[in-house]
Amino acid sequence: MPQASSPIGVFDSGVGGLSVLRALLAAMPHERFVYLADSAHAPYGERGDAYVAARTHAITQYLCEQHGIKALVVACNTATAAAIHEVRSSHPTLPLVGLEPAIKPALAVTKTGHVGVIGTRGTLTSAKFSKLMASLNEQAHFVVQPCDGLAHAIERSVALPVAAPGSPVDATETGALCARYVQAMGSFGTAPGQMDTLVLGCTHYIFVAHELRALVGPGVQFIETGEPVARQTRRLLEAAGLLHVPAETRPDKPPAPSPGTTPAVQLLTTGPVAMLEAAAQRWLNLPTSCCQSVQVP
Ligand code: DGL
Repeated sequence: MPQASSPIGVFDSGVGGLSVLRALLAAMPHERFVYLADSAHAPYGERGDAYVAARTHAITQYLCEQHGIKALVVACNTATAAAIHEVRSSHPTLPLVGLEPAIKPALAVTKTGHVGVIGTRGTLTSAKFSKLMASLNEQAHFVVQPCDGLAHAIERSVALPVAAPGSPVDATETGALCARYVQAMGSFGTAPGQMDTLVLGCTHYIFVAHELRALVGPGVQFIETGEPVARQTRRLLEAAGLLHVPAETRPDKPPAPSPGTTPAVQLLTTGPVAMLEAAAQRWLNLPTSCCQSVQVP
């Protein structure tokens, strides 16, 4: 039976969900986390619902059985679209948080009423996304762009050296893909008729935010889901009485750093561990000792 001291499970097709883990760590520094990158089976975005649902099911089982998780964050828009309903019915007592492209928050931000949405083909062609769009479509003009290959290119780019500041965006594989998709979407900016808001509907894309920024210009707002997801996870844990509350500091003693304030994070991957190690160091400043390779058949 999971307890408040049990870890929170987080998973993605690969390293993209580390952007969500970063927000979770900031919101709940006293919690333990087990993150699983299913890199051996990434990308999910172009594989079809049945495959993604089967992987989501296998990983949920693994995290529950092997790690006794107290909650699960599906840090992947594609897996959420394909399988969150099934996970909810197969694990009815597990607090569960999924991700979907943040088009509702984008409505609150856009001034021109023109919003761009990028994500994987799996997410953007899903029934779940169509339903979401149908409920909002009248309120803004949306340009929806599936970005085939971009998440996979981001995975591969982790092992490469960081591009020098000022180097041309399209000199890298990720940069060339960003340029292709941004150009296909139309005009970005703050003038009437231009898209002034871009929804990052895939957790990988925050890691190419600087390339996207160089292409769309400084006035365009990026909307992603890490922080709202962290707040929602915290709310669910509180409601379930499963939030880990560190032992109180004695009032006669000044607060001092204690081991309980150091986040305990395990990063697991079904793919090459070197890639996860590089991502953990580059994006979360976490040591390679957190990373381990596992098999989830
Ligand atoms: N990071 C994932 C998402 O948010 C999926 C990327 C992929 O594997 O295609 O959709």
